[in-house]
Amino acid sequence: MNDLQISLPDNYATIKTASEAIHFSMPSDLQAGCLLRTLVASKPAGSFLELGTGTGLSLSWIVEGMDNDASVISIDNNETYLAIARKFFDNDKRVTIVCEDGNAWIRSNPYKQFDLVFADAWPGKYEAFEETLELIKPGGFYIIDDMSPQPNWPAGHELNVERLVNELEQRDDIRLTKMNWSTGLVIVTKIK
Ligand SMILES: C[S@@+](CC[C@H](N)C(=O)[O-])C[C@H]1O[C@@H](n2cnc3c(N)ncnc32)[C@H](O)[C@@H]1O
Repeated sequence: MNDLQISLPDNYATIKTASEAIHFSMPSDLQAGCLLRTLVASKPAGSFLELGTGTGLSLSWIVEGMDNDASVISIDNNETYLAIARKFFDNDKRVTIVCEDGNAWIRSNPYKQFDLVFADAWPGKYEAFEETLELIKPGGFYIIDDMSPQPNWPAGHELNVERLVNELEQRDDIRLTKMNWSTGLVIVTKIK
């Protein structure tokens, strides 16, 4: 059960080097990436949404889980970060990278439906939360990480996390599992 020897996606090491060169300080970890790849692979011809592309590290896991008929939209509002992701994924017709405020994108696409949403930015997690859950198909996944205390949390952030977990636990349209693993993951499946 050693989970430290994870096979990395194509491009991962190169994206990581480019991310370090610009001092990108918010990458998701290998465990979260590996879980994303596994869940994405469970949805043949799936459609996926990532909120918070960063430099494309988690996107590389999502893309590696996808089959030829699958597609992913990945949103970030920082073009410097996205420039790195674009270098690796712009030639892949299954991948759409959008530079836009996540809340604005969520609110202007209320009819889209996804098999999995990885919410790795405030939009979709601490903002526009209800609207984001509406974007997930019944049977689809909502994945969040960084739910256990992290050194880079701003002061008082634990209250946001507690509120979000409480909100999730009170819903009757999902099933959830809290995992004290990686940076603290919550795996949610929509049931309605
Ligand atoms: C935790 S990082 C994403 C890390 C990335 N998923 C990875 O695995 O490397 C959060 C990202 O959210 C982006 N972000 C912050 N506020 C945003 C907003 N309002 N709309 C869109 N993206 C936002 C940041 O630019 C940052 O790249």
